[in-house]
Amino acid sequence: MSTQQKLQYTTPGLDETSAQRVVELLQGRLHAANDLHLTLKHVHWNVVGPHFIAVHEMLDPQVDAVRGFADDLAERIATLGGSPQGTPGSIVDARTWDDYSIGRATTQEHLAALDLVYQGVITTYRDGIKELDDLDLVTQDMFIAQTEQLELFHWFVRAHLEDKGGSLATQGATTEAEAARAAS
Ligand SMILES: [Fe+2]
Repeated sequence: MSTQQKLQYTTPGLDETSAQRVVELLQGRLHAANDLHLTLKHVHWNVVGPHFIAVHEMLDPQVDAVRGFADDLAERIATLGGSPQGTPGSIVDARTWDDYSIGRATTQEHLAALDLVYQGVITTYRDGIKELDDLDLVTQDMFIAQTEQLELFHWFVRAHLEDKGGSLATQGATTEAEAARAAS
């Protein structure tokens, strides 16, 4: 993902190889968090339709929380002796996912696309939690706390896409455009 940094020091009790991998995992989530809070704002500005105000206002607390996650992740990188990469160019260079693909669209279309965005972000957090089990439980604790919040936000999004039987309109969709079509 990102070029590996040589750490001159790290937190006591953590070996250098582990610390380097932890920094790499943190940097991956820092890029994801920075991408996500910008994407959520983009949706906040571009939703239209009858439920505009509800969705528009639902998103701002998510933006604030995810910006807070980015700050915590970045400061953890610095704490471990690394240098957090937070520029727009570094996100675009390193990310393994495509830019959010929906412009002005209805609330249901954006929420359906956000369902897929959250699926991607949360899956990688959970992979990180598993790997951190053998590397650093303190960083793992941060990942777990952030994942809990992200899963709650994901539910807020999905509740709009769910029918009385509990099925999601986006079930089986593999792209944002496909999800948006299924929900509109
Ligand atoms: Fe606003």
